[in-house]
Amino acid sequence: MNVTAERLELHPLDPCSADELSCSVKILRDSGNLSQNTMFSCGYAAEPPKDLVLGFETGASFDRVVRLIGHDREQGQSFDARVSLTSSQVTTFAWIDDGQAPINSSDYRKMLEVLAANDEWVAALEKRGIEDFSLVHIEPWVAGARPPEMKPNARVFRAIAFLHEHPDDNPYARPLEGLVAMVDVDGGQVIVEDHGVAPIPTDPAEYAADRVPNLRKDLKPLIITQPDGPSFDVDGRFVRWQKWQFRISVQPIEGLVLHDVRYDDDGRERSILYRAALADMVVPYGDASPMHSWKHALDAGEAALGQSANSLKLGCDCLGEIHYFNNTILRPDGEPVEVQNAVCMHEEDYGILWKHTNVLKDEPSPEVRRSRRLVVSMIHTLGNYEYGFYWYFYLDGTIQMEVKLTGMVGVSVTEEATDSAPIVAATMSSPIHQHIFCFRLDFNVDGTNNSVYEMEVEPSPVGDQNPHNSGFRSVGRVLRTEDEAMRNIDPSRSRNWRVVNPNVKNAYGNPVGYKLLPQASSTMLAGEGSLHAKRGGFAKHNLWVTPYAPDELDAAAGPFSNLHSGGAGLPAYTAGNRSIQNTDLVVWHCLGVTHVPRPEDWPIMPVEYAGFTLLPVGFFDRNPSMDVAPASHCHD
Ligand code: CU
Repeated sequence: MNVTAERLELHPLDPCSADELSCSVKILRDSGNLSQNTMFSCGYAAEPPKDLVLGFETGASFDRVVRLIGHDREQGQSFDARVSLTSSQVTTFAWIDDGQAPINSSDYRKMLEVLAANDEWVAALEKRGIEDFSLVHIEPWVAGARPPEMKPNARVFRAIAFLHEHPDDNPYARPLEGLVAMVDVDGGQVIVEDHGVAPIPTDPAEYAADRVPNLRKDLKPLIITQPDGPSFDVDGRFVRWQKWQFRISVQPIEGLVLHDVRYDDDGRERSILYRAALADMVVPYGDASPMHSWKHALDAGEAALGQSANSLKLGCDCLGEIHYFNNTILRPDGEPVEVQNAVCMHEEDYGILWKHTNVLKDEPSPEVRRSRRLVVSMIHTLGNYEYGFYWYFYLDGTIQMEVKLTGMVGVSVTEEATDSAPIVAATMSSPIHQHIFCFRLDFNVDGTNNSVYEMEVEPSPVGDQNPHNSGFRSVGRVLRTEDEAMRNIDPSRSRNWRVVNPNVKNAYGNPVGYKLLPQASSTMLAGEGSLHAKRGGFAKHNLWVTPYAPDELDAAAGPFSNLHSGGAGLPAYTAGNRSIQNTDLVVWHCLGVTHVPRPEDWPIMPVEYAGFTLLPVGFFDRNPSMDVAPASHCHD
């Protein structure tokens, strides 16, 4: 391929084309490092150094590097390689010591083959009265750390199983209780655990529209139209909307990434975020039953969340005038494939932006402005569960992340509820669990060097300034080091974290800033020393702050979390207790949902929400949305 010619049009943050992916796979294969029996977990444009991106001018040349991660089944090891398309060479190649490449569909196919040939597994199915094995749905699960019973280089996953009534039904409605297997998909070793047979539920728990009786008929059409088109402009992956500008990309692990978010403040292009994305997530289960106690999926790092994107459908996933972005990913066999409509972008009306009615006039005189937000979103399916990630940009300088959780909860067959597995249906319980998301927010508030303050509101001390003991005040303290910045939420004190640029002052002499406003979010509930807490160590705190380091870009649980023994990621990054004051810093915000399942979550859980908001605090000198015009029909 002619890389040089293509590069003239490329931005350093542009995604890989199918040709670039194919070309890099060929260069890596030709290098002789890998056997024929190799699968690829992911391939994507390696992110260039920050100074290159920030200083980039259109047409400038740069080294185009593709990162390829995969697993050589013959050599029993995963690899991390970088290929320069500029020099047509493998620039780095490393075998991964602790951890392996993420699971993918080729692992699943291997798992099915290995289990079908395993006498113990077959006997366990027969013991449950199953004759037609084609109706057994085997669900692959990441295993956590490598179980000590398995061989040292095993590529091990766990399997649980369900029984279909027919191939198109709800595959999770009829769990085969008590049956778990550990499967080495490379070496073929299988350890079957059979904890006892339970009756298979009879309720099919169907959810497909053609199988749900009595669908409502009284919802009238609600149509969103923008006769003049949307208000955004898109050039490749670069987006302008109102006073906002940013780039997007989709990474195999992190999913949707925002780059270089800026706001046009009366002609001043002001930076806010250099990069913002999910940095990993963990779903620890609190039920000690042998069917669930081992579950603590790191769905981004272990399962390549970014590659599990749905193709979104107009009028179903998003309403209105939509712009879609496709996403090219690498299949396990090294061939690229394009996911259509992986990212959806559109505008949404969001009620009122601001309002005041002057009632002192003879005729009350209201001034009201409509709020509108730009939505950039993706939805991922990971086995039984769906995660939607929605970035919102508002007219007043606010940015918001909203995670939408839906899909199917995990279930067990039981007659009795416990404190850690409430009943959700007849003879079915669902284990209590958490979904903790860690977002990596590389702030760039009016420049690279920033500091973080913890802000709280507290009662003022009684004295001359507070004679009636009714006063309260806002107090802040700078977080100076990584240790000081390991913090949790405290809604009772309105705790939030303000990222400021101490070198840039607003009109009132205060440093410009943006605050991270958290929602009520628990942290990891699994006990210290548990595998869940060790491998999902980032979930111990709601806040971490680190100085920017290019090799800490990958993930909150470390770059290769699948089968990793634990301790990687944020706990390791922060071990040196580095200074985070007035420097290029990165804020990591961990938040989530502790999910106590309820009958209303079955058979499909209505969307539950989690997220956070970034609000300007003294970044602007006044309400930046005063110039929003009233809707034409609202003003006489
Ligand atoms: Cu849940």
